[in-house]
Amino acid sequence: MKKTITAVLAIGLVGVTYGALQAAEVVVRDDQIGLSATSVFDDPTPDVFDYPETEPSAAQALKRAYFGAPPQVPHKIENLLPIRAKKNACLRCHDAPDDIGKARAAGDPTPMPLSHYVKLDDGSLKRGDNRHVCVQCHAPQANVKDLVGNTFAP
Ligand code: HEC
Ligand code: HEC
Repeated sequence: MKKTITAVLAIGLVGVTYGALQAAEVVVRDDQIGLSATSVFDDPTPDVFDYPETEPSAAQALKRAYFGAPPQVPHKIENLLPIRAKKNACLRCHDAPDDIGKARAAGDPTPMPLSHYVKLDDGSLKRGDNRHVCVQCHAPQANVKDLVGNTFAP
């Protein structure tokens, strides 16, 4: 009987030690979560900022973040939103498939590229429905200091 109790206790001890070791392995300090060097409990206060009030007619293309990145919107867009299934104000200026690749006068909107269209059997271009919500990828920019340092280089 005594032997059995000792054996049960021994097995229990091994189990508890094993569990403790396992638990020790998964402990991650909050300042080691993620890529940032700061704690997830740090709560930096963003500076208050305004988006530029540039009208489309006065807009000039901004530098691309990296090759293939969606170009950033260089003009105000609040009067053009929301984009709905049957109403997309961006198309008025940027949906011009016949002008793709042609020279433009300064200040003319860049036509959406071929990647935003599907070629039909008759050779005509249909706008891709998967690109309908332009602001999913194209966002207006404000001159704001990074909240967390960023060393990304294209
Ligand atoms: C009244 C015409 C007009 C409307 C409406 C308009 N844009 Fe523009 N957009 C322009 C002009 C002009 C430019 C600056 C010239 C250029 O295309 O680079 C521009 C530039 C851009 C660019 C940068 C293109 C590049 O190559 O860098 C993007 C992206 C863009 N607009 C997206 C949008 C989105 C999204 C909407 C709708 C929310 C919209 N635009 C509505 C006229 C317009
Ligand atoms: C799923 C993401 C996505 C959506 C949605 C999207 N675009 Fe783009 N757009 C891109 C990317 C990425 C590029 C740059 C690469 C390329 O040319 O395909 C681009 C390029 C552009 C350009 C620059 C063309 C050039 O020749 O320099 C314009 C203008 C533009 N998009 C307008 C629009 C408009 C207007 C809409 C909405 C009808 C829209 N995009 C929806 C991702 C997107």
